[in-house]
Amino acid sequence: MADMDGILQNKDKDYGIGIPVAGQSFFLKGSDNLDWGMKHRLSRIFNEKSGRTVMLAFDHGYIMGPTSGLERLDLNIVPLIKYADSVMCTRGALRSVVPPSMDKAICLRYSAGTSILTELNNECVLDIADAIRTNASTMAVMVSIGGTYEAKTIENLVRTADMGYKYGIPTMGVTAVGTDMVRDSRYFATASRICAENGANIVKTYYCDGFEKVVNSCPVPIVIAGGKKLPELDALELCYNAINDGAAGVDMGRNVFQSEAPEAMIQAVRGVVHDSLTPKQAFEMFNDLKK
Ligand code: 5RP
Repeated sequence: MADMDGILQNKDKDYGIGIPVAGQSFFLKGSDNLDWGMKHRLSRIFNEKSGRTVMLAFDHGYIMGPTSGLERLDLNIVPLIKYADSVMCTRGALRSVVPPSMDKAICLRYSAGTSILTELNNECVLDIADAIRTNASTMAVMVSIGGTYEAKTIENLVRTADMGYKYGIPTMGVTAVGTDMVRDSRYFATASRICAENGANIVKTYYCDGFEKVVNSCPVPIVIAGGKKLPELDALELCYNAINDGAAGVDMGRNVFQSEAPEAMIQAVRGVVHDSLTPKQAFEMFNDLKK
């Protein structure tokens, strides 16, 4: 019988913070027992040397239309792709704008449904054939834990993971947060863990205080979304703190493409994620590149 105590008494839990996962031969947490194709695709997203990734997210239009900074994907986004390890986008953006000759892993936005004009997260998923045709390295599915469409979005995740295991394409669970939900470690740990238990090979969630608990209680790699645009130094601090707490990278959009200097910003983010730059060093890099 399920009980709420398990998710409520957060302070007494033992997350084993600082203790690495035992007995792994593959470089990514929780991926040892996956098939070759899955591991190969994950290795296209995550850099084996750092174990981390910089994903450039520009899928916002699927729920928000022409978001600020994404009005012209060809002008705003294509020049940034060379600095990313992976692009996260819809199949519409991919086919219409992203050059097929680019050599970056594709994180395909795989769920779609309601827009910001109604209640979000009433979604369906694409056909696996399109993930295969577009050579996706992972399929991103929105999961709304505690929301109106919890069951439907979990079903989307489960169906996607079923097809993903069949064809060797990893699934990324994206934790959606309702406006009325508390954005704390208890919520994000619960949502992330539910994604992993239901088949997600990567989880995308938000940074929060106590983030190391979110990472340590999730058996697969976690990447963070950047969220709303912040001043550049604050965004670099967010990346630094997330990486320090164990995130395997970022899947960042607005803090890159809405920056006053997006090319400089994505390179500074890379510096934090792959080269362990401090926020101050990365901000200096940003200012130098901006010039
Ligand atoms: C939307 C998404 C976005 O890709 C995600 O929020 C990342 O973008 P940002 O850094 O702007 O938050 O998953 O559903």
